[in-house]
Amino acid sequence: EGTYPFTGAHQAGIVTPAQDRLYLAAFDLTTTSRDELVELLRRWTTIAARLTQGLSAGPFGPASGPYDAPPDDTGEAADLSPAGLTLTFGFGRSLFVGTPGPDGTPGEDRFGLADRLPEGLVALPHFAADDLDPARSDGDLVVQACADDPQIAVHAIRNLSRAAFGSATIRWTQLGYGRTSSTSTAQRTPRNLFGFKDGTANVKAEETDALAEHVWVPASDVDASSEWLVGGSYLVARRIRMRIETWDRTSLREQENLVGRTKGEGAPLSGGTEFTEPDFAQEGRGGAPLIAVDSHVRLAHPTSNDGVRLLRRGYNFTDGNDTLGRLDAGLFFLAFVRDPRTHFIPMQTRLSSQDTLMEYLTHTGSGLFAVPPGIPEGALVLGDDGT
Ligand code: HEM
Repeated sequence: EGTYPFTGAHQAGIVTPAQDRLYLAAFDLTTTSRDELVELLRRWTTIAARLTQGLSAGPFGPASGPYDAPPDDTGEAADLSPAGLTLTFGFGRSLFVGTPGPDGTPGEDRFGLADRLPEGLVALPHFAADDLDPARSDGDLVVQACADDPQIAVHAIRNLSRAAFGSATIRWTQLGYGRTSSTSTAQRTPRNLFGFKDGTANVKAEETDALAEHVWVPASDVDASSEWLVGGSYLVARRIRMRIETWDRTSLREQENLVGRTKGEGAPLSGGTEFTEPDFAQEGRGGAPLIAVDSHVRLAHPTSNDGVRLLRRGYNFTDGNDTLGRLDAGLFFLAFVRDPRTHFIPMQTRLSSQDTLMEYLTHTGSGLFAVPPGIPEGALVLGDDGT
């Protein structure tokens, strides 16, 4: 419920014990001036450093300062605790190379950044069963605000977007409630909207070696153009709508078989308790594997993915309902990975074409962002590589 440091080797909001609430915003730049972009990042850094320490966005706060000017903070967080707010910033592919036209014409390098494009910041391929809404996808910049109080997270994004006025506008946002992952062994495993424990086998903050192997971009991965990303990561965001009403009419047996774990305890269907390793070789009566070959857990497990593990940090979402009275709800999947080419694309390709859980899922939004390393004490500009 307190505060987390804003400066450090890595940005906060990645291995930070996942807070209960999320407000994530993707922005598009309206300026084409590199100086204005740098100035925006400078403003955001200053404001984020204040907000995450429980201070108002500006030095005067919501109720003082020049009487004939708008207050430098919007005010709705004034009497609240900082609620563990973290702000995590990332850069989309379009920031570096623009957005290609529908006819395949190359995008425009508005800021002279094309030679800084990290190799892993690819345009994601189309996956089977994707139904992506461009208005809920991509963006030049992303800000992930996490806190234990939704008003704190929304206040942060609102004040950052206010500070972006004239330079960048919000492209899309997502509100999340109820984390669907633990990122620390000290946390209880939460549940997603299918009612299953989610985050059991997640990479946790305490697993330093696994973080180095699966989350942080190492110097050995990058060439000179993207040295600035060493110690950072990539954020994959996928808005995954769940067919809740169909799921709720599915038998418990079927639900458990699709996931590969029990609904109550979250234990693998091969036996044991929540944290027992799944045993994919175990067979039941008739010789069928106890954990189905097309179950989610089997297809997502490191043994099916060249040893790859993810740090997932997603949230449940409910955005009203459609005209048929069905909830527009699901899982806003967030994962921080070392390289999406090894740590997301192959796994998602496998899941989208083989995972039986996909019958109940549609991916409706998508974003991939390069997340620079942490901001050293005293530095002013996020993502500043000295050029
Ligand atoms: C594990 C649900 C989407 C990757 C799990 C587990 C559940 C689950 C219940 C088991 C508990 C755990 O270890 O956390 C879901 C649901 C999804 C979804 C409901 C969509 C709405 C995805 C996506 C990916 C993914 C899109 C990656 C592309 C994983 C991984 C594991 C996992 C890596 C851990 C596997 C292991 O090491 O045993 N998921 N998941 N999931 N999921 Fe998902």
